Amino acid sequence: MAPDLDDQNLAFRTVTRSSLTTSTMLRSGSRLCTQISRSSRCLARLNSTQASHAANSSSSSSTQEPRTVSFGFRTVPEDAKESLVKEVFNSVASKYDLMNDATSFGVHRLWKDTFVSSLRPGRRGPQKCIDVAGGTGDIALRILDYAREKYADRETTVDIVDINAEMLKEGYRRFKKTMYHNTPQVAFHEGNAQLMSQFPDNTYDIYTIAFGIRNCTSIPDVLKEAHRILKPGGTFACLEFSRVGNPLLSTLYDQYSFSVIPLMGTVLAGDRDSYQYLVESIRKFPPQQEFAQMIRDAGFATGKDEDGGAWTDLWGGIASIHKGVKL
Ligand SMILES: C[S@@+](CC[C@H](N)C(=O)[O-])C[C@H]1O[C@@H](n2cnc3c(N)ncnc32)[C@H](O)[C@@H]1O
Repeated sequence: MAPDLDDQNLAFRTVTRSSLTTSTMLRSGSRLCTQISRSSRCLARLNSTQASHAANSSSSSSTQEPRTVSFGFRTVPEDAKESLVKEVFNSVASKYDLMNDATSFGVHRLWKDTFVSSLRPGRRGPQKCIDVAGGTGDIALRILDYAREKYADRETTVDIVDINAEMLKEGYRRFKKTMYHNTPQVAFHEGNAQLMSQFPDNTYDIYTIAFGIRNCTSIPDVLKEAHRILKPGGTFACLEFSRVGNPLLSTLYDQYSFSVIPLMGTVLAGDRDSYQYLVESIRKFPPQQEFAQMIRDAGFATGKDEDGGAWTDLWGGIASIHKGVKL
């Protein structure tokens, strides 16, 4: 059994099988970053690792090329991405809410409200929900508030899952100030969206993931696990930054993202590189249509391939809500 995360008597249930498997997968990535407390230093080391990868592959043609994925605009070995992402969120956790409000002028709150109210949790009686990459608990709290305020439902539950213990601690702190603290309505789990073996098949009515999936190494693996743990008829719902259709808005948004957000990261959080990564990762995420197809490939039914069908654009596509139903 993995050691309990909870150094403050927190109700975190730690992952058993999945953390072991993940830790095996991450061993090489972790080695890369163990001595590094800040993502910026980790990124610097990553550059030299990439150089050495290149040197190794040119000196030995028999060596198999490592599988690679994007980490923002960089291409990194697949097994290094998770630890790099962890470093980013370790670094931003304590300033995450402040930075979210500053960089989006608070708009992320409206998007999250729209996201949760579109799901109408509690409408058909108490529901079992899971919020993956749920870190700060923003979505989980909205789900429970919505069910209680609209339907006087105090039995809907949310399991919050995140790969990063620091982000979970921020969420726990937030929940501590609410009526849901120490109730069966909420539980925190450290775990990987790609490997949810601690959660049984056909368990949940609603699966949410907000601004999390683009940080995962394998989107198909996340979708596969979401499909497995949802009950037949259950809903997959993803809120994520997406593609802006209008060229003028797209140019303005690009300029804002690439100049203002990393600058705010430097000024408010003392961490330019993490915010640079967050902006870059948005551009690497598949556009609406492509992501909708990935959701269907995982076995979900979606609406038509258009805004208002398989997805709903928010603010011209700056963010987008995708949904799928497990048949
Ligand atoms: C941008 S934050 C979003 C947090 C929250 N959902 C929100 O909307 O405010 C992304 C979260 O994804 C988590 N994350 C990244 N990769 C993950 C993975 N493979 N499995 C689970 N969580 C992951 C990070 O630790 C971080 O807490």
